[in-house]
Amino acid sequence: MEYENIRVETRGRVALITLHRPAQLNALCGPLIAELNAALDGFERDEGIGCIILTGSEKAFAAGADIPEMRDRTHPEFFVADPFGEWDRVGRRRKPMIAAVAGYALGGGCELAMMCDFILAADTAKFGQPEIKLGVIPGAGGTQRLTRAVGKAKAMELCLTGRLMAAAEAERAGLVARIVPAADLLAEAWQTAETIASMSLPAVMVAKDCVDRAFETTLAEGVRYERGLFYGLFATADQKEGMAAFLEKRKPNFEHR
Ligand code: CAA
Repeated sequence: MEYENIRVETRGRVALITLHRPAQLNALCGPLIAELNAALDGFERDEGIGCIILTGSEKAFAAGADIPEMRDRTHPEFFVADPFGEWDRVGRRRKPMIAAVAGYALGGGCELAMMCDFILAADTAKFGQPEIKLGVIPGAGGTQRLTRAVGKAKAMELCLTGRLMAAAEAERAGLVARIVPAADLLAEAWQTAETIASMSLPAVMVAKDCVDRAFETTLAEGVRYERGLFYGLFATADQKEGMAAFLEKRKPNFEHR
């Protein structure tokens, strides 16, 4: 399928989606989000894909929602069309997604990165929720996901002042899994995604679901949820293969079922 605002590539069991609106620093307009969801729908259906990388350019992962597109919107238009409902679909994917972030990840760009399962950041990455400077607030989960990632003090400061946070601070604060030199970002992302995609897909999906559950429920409920799913994995061929391979001192040959 031909896309205007994204580029798509697959290698083995990994898919790479590159945001591609260079003149607008990958500002996230409605058509871009629609294309992103169309690509993700396809990869979710494709049994041959086990991990997805989302990236931008060297200068910007994404500089936020598209400001000219939003500027003249009215409340009823927003309410009826609910464009951020479409964004929300990005964050409800079942296969693992890695955000590979270089340059600016601001506003909706930071929110999009946080919808992924974890963020690999180039040392050039800058994160922030500068919506307050436009007279609005984050609208695609920023106040919620940033607070869960970095805690109230820093999330509040960033949302109230619009201050940007460099990669090192973002890593210290827990927003970012790992920082790599900008030149190595994509290679690291491919390698990490290939590692994940080589694991049993049912186990990977269950692990993702359980970690996400930690943000939605109590500790006791979460532990019960995890335990049920752990037992459930013993219905998979991959559990038998993984444990047999360990005991036979060989590499497992997962069939993702
Ligand atoms: N929407 C549309 N276009 C954008 C954009 C955005 N969010 N951000 C940047 N651009 C465009 C600029 O208008 C500019 O276009 P022109 O060349 O046609 O003027 C082009 O991208 C390059 O931008 P700059 O010249 O500003 O580049 P810079 O290097 O001087 O600054 C920047 C980079 C600091 C990222 C700056 O562009 C900036 O502050 N952008 C806006 C960031 C922002 O406020 N994001 C939040 C948007 S609201 C939101 O996201 C709501 C939500 O929660 C979903």
